[in-house]
Amino acid sequence: MSDDLNIITGSKTEQYESLLPQINGLLEGEPDLVANLANIVAALKEQFSWLWVGFYLVKPSSAIPVTIGAGDKQMELVLAPFQGPVACTRIRKGKGVCGTCWEKAQTLIVADVEKFPGHIACSSLSRSEIVVPVIRNKEVIAVLDVDSDQVNHFDETDQYYLEKVVELISF
Ligand code: SME
Repeated sequence: MSDDLNIITGSKTEQYESLLPQINGLLEGEPDLVANLANIVAALKEQFSWLWVGFYLVKPSSAIPVTIGAGDKQMELVLAPFQGPVACTRIRKGKGVCGTCWEKAQTLIVADVEKFPGHIACSSLSRSEIVVPVIRNKEVIAVLDVDSDQVNHFDETDQYYLEKVVELISF
């Protein structure tokens, strides 16, 4: 059996409708998180050819804790499976589009990254961005970040389907 994805042309909705069950199939029966995140970003990149698509996971900070008490771990976003140019590895809560998405626990669509105060430019080619939180037990545990080299590339259709994609992941 071929593992190739069926990549289609058509409207954005048609592309997501075709891809979503295929992503579901890729995840079926596989418990490994990294393997599943890797296949999700590969599938999205193959269908949509975005500049960058990847996950950041909420993990303990690498910084030495100074002011926080024992047992309290400071957390930050750490780079996880992605496709595209190399990217910054760690993002603090509230920083950039990703850290703001984490802080607000809601999807952010940025039509023009140059107009988003504090945007973190991992690639100089990025022009617009969507970041979707992955929420489990009311906590953001990861974000899915997508960058385009075109201004105003993402809309509510991307939000609707990318939120469905992140629901498929078992953490
Ligand atoms: N632009 C993001 C940083 C991550 S890269 O785009 C991959 C931000 O402002 O948080």
